[in-house]
Amino acid sequence: MPEERKIDHPRPAPSLKGEGKKITVRATRFDPDKDEKPRMQSYEIPFPDESMVVLDALNYIKSHVDGSLSYRWSCRMGICGSCGMMVDGVPKLSCSAFLRDYWPKPVTVEPLNNFPIIRDLVSDMDDFMHKLKSIKPWIIRKQELPLGAGAHRQTNDQIDEFRQFSQCINCMLCYAACPVYGLDDKFLGPAATALARRYNLDSRDEGLKQRLPVLADSEGIWECSFVGECSVVCPKGVDPAKAIQQTKLDTTMRFVLPYGNRD
Ligand code: FES
Repeated sequence: MPEERKIDHPRPAPSLKGEGKKITVRATRFDPDKDEKPRMQSYEIPFPDESMVVLDALNYIKSHVDGSLSYRWSCRMGICGSCGMMVDGVPKLSCSAFLRDYWPKPVTVEPLNNFPIIRDLVSDMDDFMHKLKSIKPWIIRKQELPLGAGAHRQTNDQIDEFRQFSQCINCMLCYAACPVYGLDDKFLGPAATALARRYNLDSRDEGLKQRLPVLADSEGIWECSFVGECSVVCPKGVDPAKAIQQTKLDTTMRFVLPYGNRD
């Protein structure tokens, strides 16, 4: 557990409308050039508005209290997936975690579990980026149709086959919640498998055989012990645990079916 260290705020926090109600935010601080290990720092900030989310609190701290606090965010609307962090020990998008759900207790924010820390609340996602690339998350065709042949048409039923898996925003909350990935970072993991499933189920795609060696590898789908926390924490309603179990079934069926039916 990082050790707690309080510091004086370099600048006084300005008054806000509705001042009076306050909330304490405890944030992990880590500067690789100065710190041997992460520590916690507490900030007491105004909480004037019930619609404030954890990201608003961090932005307030950065703008008015301590400009050195580092974290990622972009859209503030649960789309970009960059603001994921541990909020009171649970992987969440900080732009979707309301302070009212934690007040009057302090709220604790830490970098995502299971990833190396780069600085403060910023985690190193390189491992996932390599895994994502390995499952080739794009439509693969044996032979492209000429442009004049028109669009690849799909029915609504065909789109429904993969729609939920296409909602993944690469926020990495599922990896932070996965105990298997926590023990073995070679495990392909939930989001990469869900995205492989998304393309394998797409009627336009012909890349299944290229993805199978990665999925069925000893560090692939068979590592999953079906804890299911990946699906619980997903902010977009994707069910990576289902993608993994479906892929296990598909892979087994391909093994037992006659050779001619394996495509
Ligand atoms: Fe984009 Fe939170 S800031 S998902």
